Amino acid sequence: MANELVLVTGAAGGSQGKTGRHVSELLLKRGVPVRAFVHKIDERSEHLRALGAEVVAGDFLDYRSVERAVKGVSSIYFAYPVQPGLLDATTVMADCARRAGVKRVIDMVMLVSTPDAPTPRMRQNYLSEQIFEWAGVGAAHVRATVFFEQVRMMAAATIAAQGMIMLPWGSENTVLPLVSGEDVARVAAGVLTSPQVAPGSSYPVIGQVITLGDAIKTIARVLGRDVRYVEITDQQWHDGALARGVNAHAVEHLVQLWRTLRTNPRGFEVPDTIEKFGGQKPKTFEAFVREQQDVFKMKAA
Ligand SMILES: NC(=O)c1ccc[n+]([C@@H]2O[C@H](COP(=O)([O-])OP(=O)(O)OC[C@H]3O[C@@H](n4cnc5c(N)ncnc54)[C@H](OP(=O)(O)O)[C@@H]3O)[C@@H](O)[C@H]2O)c1
Repeated sequence: MANELVLVTGAAGGSQGKTGRHVSELLLKRGVPVRAFVHKIDERSEHLRALGAEVVAGDFLDYRSVERAVKGVSSIYFAYPVQPGLLDATTVMADCARRAGVKRVIDMVMLVSTPDAPTPRMRQNYLSEQIFEWAGVGAAHVRATVFFEQVRMMAAATIAAQGMIMLPWGSENTVLPLVSGEDVARVAAGVLTSPQVAPGSSYPVIGQVITLGDAIKTIARVLGRDVRYVEITDQQWHDGALARGVNAHAVEHLVQLWRTLRTNPRGFEVPDTIEKFGGQKPKTFEAFVREQQDVFKMKAA
């Protein structure tokens, strides 16, 4: 499978972990041919083209554009953003992949993917896994925890403006399982190119387990400034996120996720998937904040 064409969705990379962009870059570096599925042609798609990717523009929800994109590919990286439409997009991709004779689909989902998972998005993830498995396209599932990039997205602006993190995350003892989007992509690229992948297998991905208090101390140390945590209610966070333009599907998912994390009675363990499939130790939260210092210091205009 190593030299057969891979379709990478979400390849331009958006506001979350940019996993599709990282997967594309990792595969191209290994000499694996990549067809990059992008929403629109812009400087991000030109970057991929310059690296050697074949670029195709399309929409997850437009059957004919997905059908064209999967033609002739052997495997697919599927990552549908946290926005409405996951089950439609999954069904479109599963049907097109089945008709095109695709042999492997690596499906990017969340850490908990069961019918009783705590958030509506996670329950949809479970159904999307089933749809891919019924399609008989060699589906396997990368199940990732909360990305460092998500924390950055929620905390950077208030840290830069006021030296504060305002979240409904309970006490500073709340335990956060986190990971960098890049490490998630390393696991996905590793599984995509593995000689053998059992259909229906799943790969949990956590890079670091850290308390909220330690995460705040880390940010303060790296930035060289005081950072204060202010606990807010679910409703305050919900209303603020909607006002900032976060889509309602993501807000609903995240409110439930934060509630689960702050009341979680059990801990988390870091599995060996990043080292095993990604070939290196997980990136630490501290390394991520160092790389992203400018974003944590940037005051909104
Ligand atoms: N964030 C987290 O903490 C977290 C945790 C666990 C799992 N995940 C999973 O990670 C995945 C998110 O992946 P990511 O971090 O790589 O996302 P990302 O960086 O936000 O990128 C999303 C990509 O999808 C493209 N896109 C959006 N709508 C599209 C459409 N209708 N048709 C075609 N392309 C479209 C975007 O293109 P444009 O920018 O051009 O629109 C962008 O390139 C999701 O499956 C989520 O469940 C996330």
